[in-house]
Parts: sequence; structure tokens; C-alpha cells
Amino acid sequence: MNFVGGHILSIDQFERGDIERIFQVADAMKPYALRHRVTRVLEGAILGNMFFEPSTRTRVSFGSAFNLLGGNVRETTGIQVSALAKGESLYDTARVLSGYSDVICMRHPESGSVAEFAAASRVPVINGGDGSNEHPSQALLDLYTIEKELAAQNRGIDGLRIAMIGDLKYGRTVHSLCGLLALYNNIHVTLVSPVELAMPEEIVERLRQAGHQVVISQELTNAISHVDIAYSTRIQEERFQSKQEADSYRGRFRLNQAIYTQFCEPNTVIMHPLPRDSRADANELDSDLNQNPNLAIFRQTDNGVLVRMALFALVLDVVDQVDKHSHPVTWHHNRGV
Ligand code: CP
Repeated sequence: MNFVGGHILSIDQFERGDIERIFQVADAMKPYALRHRVTRVLEGAILGNMFFEPSTRTRVSFGSAFNLLGGNVRETTGIQVSALAKGESLYDTARVLSGYSDVICMRHPESGSVAEFAAASRVPVINGGDGSNEHPSQALLDLYTIEKELAAQNRGIDGLRIAMIGDLKYGRTVHSLCGLLALYNNIHVTLVSPVELAMPEEIVERLRQAGHQVVISQELTNAISHVDIAYSTRIQEERFQSKQEADSYRGRFRLNQAIYTQFCEPNTVIMHPLPRDSRADANELDSDLNQNPNLAIFRQTDNGVLVRMALFALVLDVVDQVDKHSHPVTWHHNRGV
């Protein structure tokens, strides 16, 4: 695909070569993300970071990524503090905000809303999550993490065995990740959820049509016993009709160190898009896994900055200029990997 000036709305836009290009650029962003060097390549550019639904890591990491490339960030958080609450349309909002920004990241609770917004925008728009539909930048950082974790075991993504666990109906991160994995070869996916929260059939079909093996399960321990990646997800309570309904599924599939030790292979990598729900009645990923070296959740969040820097560099066409506009940092830093 041609990244320059384009929107990033869906993993459907990507071919395998595009993913490899994004990952190559993400690798090149490490000196800047690790504060070894500073670049001003996006000096003067403005990111409109428009989050009309709660977020911690997507919003802040998109903002940090833009700052690390030398750009400025303007943001709004929540529909209630924007003019959308006064009845303004997405069309008008997009026309206005794209006059203030050079690129926009947007999150919104309704599926398809970011694409609708992008159609009216005068600048590139990146989907930061639209309802239960898609979260393409999360899927990219998840796959980038998978690649790095497997490379440490001298393996590639082809032939991956992965279990996706939890709310697969409303979990937009797993929807997008399945779409990316479909581009690879010989993937074995085990989908573990309550029957009512199963992965949408069209996503399962897409994987099968691409020649991958898909197993559907309602049982955790068998599913995680022969996988490279155990990818847990939260019950997306904000998508349910009532809290009571969400509560009925909470805590159904809990992974902790004892279960990991008993059932997982020694190198199984544990992932989660975060936030994990650490309340006692949920706790899908117990904090007693925090010292497990195969817990990759904070490597995922760190990788999110690299991948989001890469998307900005590609869309704003500065990949070849990042280093030219750079110098070593002059302030103390002790950031590890
Ligand atoms: N993974 C993710 O989208 O997290 P936030 O909701 O904190 O952005």
C-alpha cells in the first residue's frame, strides 16, 4: 500500500509486505524511543489526538510517539467534553479538526465511526479503536511483539500456535490481530470464550479460508497447553447492555502462575492488549505472573510507541529524514529495554 497521506483504518488495507515495512521502520525508531537520540523531523506538525472513549495507552503512546518525532499534540478526551455532545455531526467535527491538525488519531465507541470521520477529513486519520470493530495499531504492535518474542526463540511468525482467550465477540484487538495473522502461513488459532462471546463467524471463516487451523473451545487449560502465545483479553463491559450481563462472564478464564506452571510449555509467551481487569471478580491475568519472564504485556506497551512512530513517519513521509534531523540527547536518561 502507499502509506503517504493515507488513512490507517483497518487491517484489511495491509499486505504482508506492508507489515514488514512498518516493522522495519519501527526498528529504526528505537534510538529515539529509548532516548539515545532526539529527532525534530516533525517540527511544526500537529497531531489531533481525538479520543471519544476512555484510553490510557493508545492515547498517550500516540501522543508520545508524535512528540518523540518532534511534533506537537492537541487532544480531546470524551464525547461529553466535545461539541459531539451538542449534536455536532462526525462530518462537521472532521472538517473542523482537520483544519487544525496534520494527522488525526481517533477513538470512538461506534463501529465504522472512524471511517465515517476519515471520509470527511482533510488530513490522514488513524483508527485508535472504533467500537467492537477494529484496533489496527494495537494489532500491529501485538504482531510486532509476537515477532520479537519468537525471534528470541529463533522462530518466525509462520507456524505460530496462539490461543486467544476471553471476550472474543466484542474484543476489537483480537478481531484485528486475526486479520493480520491471516496474512501469514500455517497459523494454529485456538479461540477460548463463553459460547455467547465467540469470535464473529466471518473472522473465523477468513482464517480458515486462508488455510489456517482454527479450534473453538470453552476450556482454558487444554487450550493453553501447546501454544507459543496465550493472548488473554478483558470482558469488554462497556459493550454490554448491563453490568449484570458483563458480570456473568467475568472471571471465567483466569490465568495465574500456578496454572501457567502446570499447563503451559516453558516458553509460552503471555500477552494481553491491556487494560487487564485486576478486580477480584475478574483478574483474567493474575499479578502473580508479574515476575514471569514470559509475561510480555509491558513489552507490548513499549513496542506500541515504536509502531506508532513508524505509522506517523510513513504516513507523513519522513522515514528517510528522521536521522538527518537528529542529535544525541543532552539530558540524563537511564531507560532500559
Ligand atoms: N489496549 C488499549 O487500547 O488500551 P487503552 O484502552 O488504554 O488505550
